[in-house]
Amino acid sequence: MIEHLYAHIPFCPKVCPYCSFYKEASDRNKTQAFLDAMLAEADLHATRLRPRTIFFGGGTPSALSTPQLEFLLGGLRQRLDLSAVTEWTLEMNPATVSLEKARALLALGVNRISMGVQSWHDDELHALGRVHTAAQAERSYAILREAGVPNVNLDLIFGLPGQTPEKWRASLERTLALAPDHISAYCLTYEEDTEFFRRLQRGEMRPDEEVDAALFELTMDVLGAAGYHQYEISNYARPGRECRHNLAYWHAADYVGLGPSAFSTVGERRWKNVSDTAEYTRRIQAAQPAADFEETVDAATRHAERRAFALRTSDGIAADPVEIAPLRAAGYVEPRGDRWVLTRSGKMVADAIAADLV
Ligand SMILES: C[S@@+](CC[C@H](N)C(=O)[O-])C[C@H]1O[C@@H](n2cnc3c(N)ncnc32)[C@H](O)[C@@H]1O
Ligand code: SF4
Repeated sequence: MIEHLYAHIPFCPKVCPYCSFYKEASDRNKTQAFLDAMLAEADLHATRLRPRTIFFGGGTPSALSTPQLEFLLGGLRQRLDLSAVTEWTLEMNPATVSLEKARALLALGVNRISMGVQSWHDDELHALGRVHTAAQAERSYAILREAGVPNVNLDLIFGLPGQTPEKWRASLERTLALAPDHISAYCLTYEEDTEFFRRLQRGEMRPDEEVDAALFELTMDVLGAAGYHQYEISNYARPGRECRHNLAYWHAADYVGLGPSAFSTVGERRWKNVSDTAEYTRRIQAAQPAADFEETVDAATRHAERRAFALRTSDGIAADPVEIAPLRAAGYVEPRGDRWVLTRSGKMVADAIAADLV
C-alpha cells in the first residue's frame, strides 16, 4: 500500500517573480474541469493508496474557494480510505485565508496548514511581488489559530536583495512571537524561467554568498535558541512537529502525486504529470496517461537518493569510515551515535556534499 499522497493545485492569486513551481493565475472557467480530473486521477490509484500523510501543495491550494475545496477534499474522502491519515497539510497564501475556509478545511480532515509569509517587512514583501502585507499575514495566522488549526508552519525566505542581518533577525523574531509549530526558512534561489532569474542575468540583482551564509547561521542560532530543532537544512520544528510527509520523501518512501507537474515514485517507477493544467485535464478526461515523463529508478539509485536526502536531515547517514574520512577531515561531518551528521559548515555546502557522496 502507498502511504503518502501529494496533490498539486496549480493556481495562485498572482504569480510571484521568484517562484518556479508550476502554477498559473487563477482562472475560474477552468477550475471545475480540473477538480473533476484530479478526482478521476485519484480513482486510478484508489485500490493501492492508504495514505498516512497527505500534502496539498502548489501553487496555492487555498486559492480555491471553500465550496471548491469541499468538493475536492470531500471527493477524495469518498474515494480513498483515509482512516490511517495522521497528517494532512494544505498550503495557504495569507491573502486567501478566511475563518470560514479554515473551519471547512478542519472539518474535511486537514490538520496542518503551511502558510507562505516569506518576510515580515512590507518593503521586502513588495520586492517579492507578494499580494499581502505583513499585517495581513499576522491576521491570517490569528484566524488559523482562532479556527483551531493545531499545527501551523510558516514559510520564510532569506537572502533577499539588500537584506541586512538586523532585518532578517526581526523577521525571525516576529515569527517566533507567534509560536508556530514549524518554520521553513529557505535561502532565495534564482530559479530558471523566473523573473528574478532574468533580472540576475541582466545584472539587476546580485546575490552575495557570504551574506547568505551569515543569514543562514543567524537562522540556526535564533531558531535553535528558541527551541526549534533543525531536522533538515531548511526546516525547524518544535518537538514532535516535524513534517511527516516531508520526512517520508526524505526517507525515499513511495508516494503518489496527483495534478499537473506532480511526481510519483512507486517501486522502481517514477513519473511526472504534464506541467499544463488544460492538457492534464484533457488527458484525464480522454482516459490517457497524464504523465509526460517516466523513468526507472532501480534499487541502487533509490538507495543513493535515500542517502543524499538523509544527509540533509538530522538523522544523517551510516557510512564507511574510509569513505567519510575526507568529509570529516574537512570538518563537514561529525559522528552522532553510529551515524554521521552534517556540521554547521557542512550544512553550508550540503548540496555539493550530497552530490559527491551519491
Ligand atoms: C509552493 S510555495 C507555497 C506557498 C504559497 N503558495 C505562498 O506562496 O504563500 C512553497 C514555498 O516555497 C518557497 N519558495 C518558492 N520559491 C522560492 C525561491 N525561489 N527561493 C526560496 N524559496 C522559495 C516559499 O517560501 C513558498 O512559501
Ligand atoms: S510562492 Fe506561492 S503564491 Fe507565489 S507563485 Fe509560488 S506558489 Fe504561487
